[in-house]
Amino acid sequence: MSYRDALNVFELQELARRRLPFPLYSYIEGGVEDNQARDNNRSVFQRIRFRQRSPVDVSRRSQSVELFGHRFDSPFGISPMGIGGVFAFEADLQMARAAARMNVPFTLSGYSTFPMEEVARHATHARWLQAYMDNDRERALQWTKRAAAAGYEVLMVSTDVPARANRENNVRSGFSLPLRASARLLFQGAIHPNWSIETFARTLMKYGVPRLENLVVGGRPSLLEAPMNGDMWAGRGAVDWELMRFLRDKWKGALLVKGTLHAADAEMAVRVGLDGVVVSNHGGRQLDGAVSPIEAIPEIRAAAGGKLKILADSGFRRGTDILKGLALGADFILLGRPAMFAVAAGGEEGVVHALSLLKSEVDNNLGLLGCPSVDDLDPSFLHFSDLFPQGLPGCQPAPTRPVLSVAHS
Ligand code: GLV
Repeated sequence: MSYRDALNVFELQELARRRLPFPLYSYIEGGVEDNQARDNNRSVFQRIRFRQRSPVDVSRRSQSVELFGHRFDSPFGISPMGIGGVFAFEADLQMARAAARMNVPFTLSGYSTFPMEEVARHATHARWLQAYMDNDRERALQWTKRAAAAGYEVLMVSTDVPARANRENNVRSGFSLPLRASARLLFQGAIHPNWSIETFARTLMKYGVPRLENLVVGGRPSLLEAPMNGDMWAGRGAVDWELMRFLRDKWKGALLVKGTLHAADAEMAVRVGLDGVVVSNHGGRQLDGAVSPIEAIPEIRAAAGGKLKILADSGFRRGTDILKGLALGADFILLGRPAMFAVAAGGEEGVVHALSLLKSEVDNNLGLLGCPSVDDLDPSFLHFSDLFPQGLPGCQPAPTRPVLSVAHS
């Protein structure tokens, strides 16, 4: 089967599973400890159902949204993901080009093996960047100057990795950072010749051993030296609100924190003057049992009081998932793993295919929902009492329609 035949992003994931050595596939696919957060990110969607309106004329539909000075063609984009170059040749460049073709944002990871300046040349339409930081202001300042000079407009600082994640699945499958040539990885490389030739050998010939090119902390380590992101903080203070306040003064573009799951943190983001938050549990890859974005969006929306853009990622895989997130109060949705699986399965064209599938699912389901535009989505399109029996946090209960009295003659 070719990536072109994939009917949805799950089928692209299956293609990537066949193409990648198992330890690499399992690094992307895995969560942490018992995968409670990762699995709940998916199952929670079943606890929210639609209440479609009909008849409504939905012959003309719109899913375009304006965000941070750009009009995007869809209400979703690509989440930051590290070390993409291990899974597909020039993965970040291919994802950036695919996103530009679909006019949606691609967020470059601070753990990427491609320099932000080079990616900026491919992300011609919108330049979004993510960072992991410690609380060293001078270092943060130098790095933000570099990002601004490269033309980045949106900076999201991940705050959900203050300690290492317990990725037992990586130990089991034989994946580690620093990369080690475990017997399992070597054997798996041998039985996945497409990846070994197209990604591994091609990358080594063109770039040598890839390096983390955009770190705020820790130089330019090669993947044979680079630690897992949570290990960077051993002996240092990770990012805190004082650093965010400092960055707010220095960074002229849009500034967001990524990893917000608590209303009090959204209130802090407002006080510090941030432009938005990304409601995220890091794809269920950090704190196992963390609440899903779908459960957290309403209270964060209420706490933000209209002063923050609410983005969300973790678990969104279908157009209907995106519509549910928006109807609950998110302004924009990001997707990570589906883009990485798509680039592993089909390169730039694979990512265009994944984004096109999601776009057409959003369009079609908007029609079925009886909602002509994503701007019109609101909680009245949802049946959410399984998840929020007391009503949505911060929302007045919907007025009960008076029962029509029938006049008896
Ligand atoms: C990195 O951020 C990861 O989730 O592996």
